[in-house]
Amino acid sequence: MKNLFLIGFMGCGKTTVGRAVATLRACGFVDLDEQIETREKMEISRIFEERGEPYFREIETRVLTTLDLATPKVVALGGGTFTFPRNIEFVRTQGVSLFLDCPLELLRARCEAFQHRPLFLRDPVRLTDLFYARLPFYRCADYRVEVSNAPPEDVARRIVTLLEKI
Ligand code: S3P
Repeated sequence: MKNLFLIGFMGCGKTTVGRAVATLRACGFVDLDEQIETREKMEISRIFEERGEPYFREIETRVLTTLDLATPKVVALGGGTFTFPRNIEFVRTQGVSLFLDCPLELLRARCEAFQHRPLFLRDPVRLTDLFYARLPFYRCADYRVEVSNAPPEDVARRIVTLLEKI
């Protein structure tokens, strides 16, 4: 079994679906944002506010590239992780990537309600720009699964079935 990296915009369900996939595959699960918060002892939104995005991106790469992947895991990345060549390169060498492809309208509705993420991601115009700027990166993932309002367990089952075939 290979490591599975879940990719996609904020609000697509990387963490919830990732946990469900890990349960079905009986393997470990890691949420990159959670690891960053633990390491920094600070919420993501505060890291952005107090230290700025470049600092966050540096830590993000450091935490990603030092994850314990000795046993196969499902890893939920952050929405911006798979847009940096250094992170894409790492993911490619460590396992397979899967893009959770969710319609923009749905993401927008979900992101507006997020209090735990940086403000710029909750601005509807910035969010749309960022969405289209990131799509080409997300589309470089090894696999893509469409998600909408389907229950996370259903999406997880589809992913596991897909991975069994390969
Ligand atoms: C970010 C998404 C967040 C988190 C940080 C930056 C982004 O992750 O890494 O707030 O740039 O899209 P989620 O997609 O897990 O919310």
